[in-house]
Amino acid sequence: MSSPAHSFSTIIITGASSGIGKAYLQSLLQNGSQATIINLSRTEPKGLDLPDSFFHLPCDLSKPQEIDWAADKILSLAYGKPGRWLLINNSGFGSYGPFPEPNLSHTLNMLDLNIRGLVHLTAALLPNIQQQGGAIINIASTAAWQPTPYMAAYGASKSFVLQWSLALAAEQKEKGIQVLAVCPGPTESDFFRRAGFGEAPLAGWGQTAAQVVDATWNALGKGRTLVVSGFLNRCLCALSCRLPKVCQAPIAAFVLRRMRLNAMKSRNANV
Ligand SMILES: NC(=O)c1ccc[n+]([C@@H]2O[C@H](COP(=O)([O-])OP(=O)(O)OC[C@H]3O[C@@H](n4cnc5c(N)ncnc54)[C@H](OP(=O)(O)O)[C@@H]3O)[C@@H](O)[C@H]2O)c1
Repeated sequence: MSSPAHSFSTIIITGASSGIGKAYLQSLLQNGSQATIINLSRTEPKGLDLPDSFFHLPCDLSKPQEIDWAADKILSLAYGKPGRWLLINNSGFGSYGPFPEPNLSHTLNMLDLNIRGLVHLTAALLPNIQQQGGAIINIASTAAWQPTPYMAAYGASKSFVLQWSLALAAEQKEKGIQVLAVCPGPTESDFFRRAGFGEAPLAGWGQTAAQVVDATWNALGKGRTLVVSGFLNRCLCALSCRLPKVCQAPIAAFVLRRMRLNAMKSRNANV
């Protein structure tokens, strides 16, 4: 197996039931990983030939008590097993519409998952990762690089993931723990349907989940703390953060408003 993920004996993934998380799982299985792989999501990954070393822990990561339960289970599954740990914090969802659409509780649930859940699970597993050695991968987004009107809370939640991840990387470096923030751009998955878009706005610049996974393993192998997946996405992020702060939101609003109009048009056409 060429991927640096080969060097871990325990791998915890959140959200391997779908999309990018499932692509991480597929990549590990295809490359013959011998690790104990533990997935945390509400539903089980389907359509894969899963080995005995794979465990699914049904868990809603927006609920603190379920995270505590899952963390205890992980510790017992990995008990006494030597080797490094890899934690991939991938679970997350977006929500599309002017705040507070579709409603406040949906938005708060998104923040609970995208921010609180990720911080909580990392804190619960960090002592073991430090003891055994290892790495943490946090899935942020290109949405983290500027304000995202019509996805305001989602973009802000991913800014948190990005900034927190980079800060954690600096803290953990001296302990030998690599922390990597991954920023995918628009990627083929269930994300857009769940976020309330009519159709995924991928035309011409979307990536596959497998491309995001390849970019991740590449960055992990090079000891990086940040990767933006895809050349065009890297250009857009570089451009976006060079714009004056006050210009970023109006430009993003123009782009995201058009996506909303297109989504509404395609929804109406399908009625
Ligand atoms: N696709 C994109 O364009 C894109 C771009 C940038 C960043 N991202 C980020 O990439 C990550 C993966 O998204 P994706 O594109 O693969 O979307 P996806 O296909 O919708 O997958 C989302 C995953 O998150 C899990 N999840 C959702 N709610 C959960 C909860 N309450 N508890 C536990 N797990 C939960 C889902 O599992 P269950 O439903 O089984 O619980 C699923 O496995 C997210 O953090 C997303 O923000 C995606």
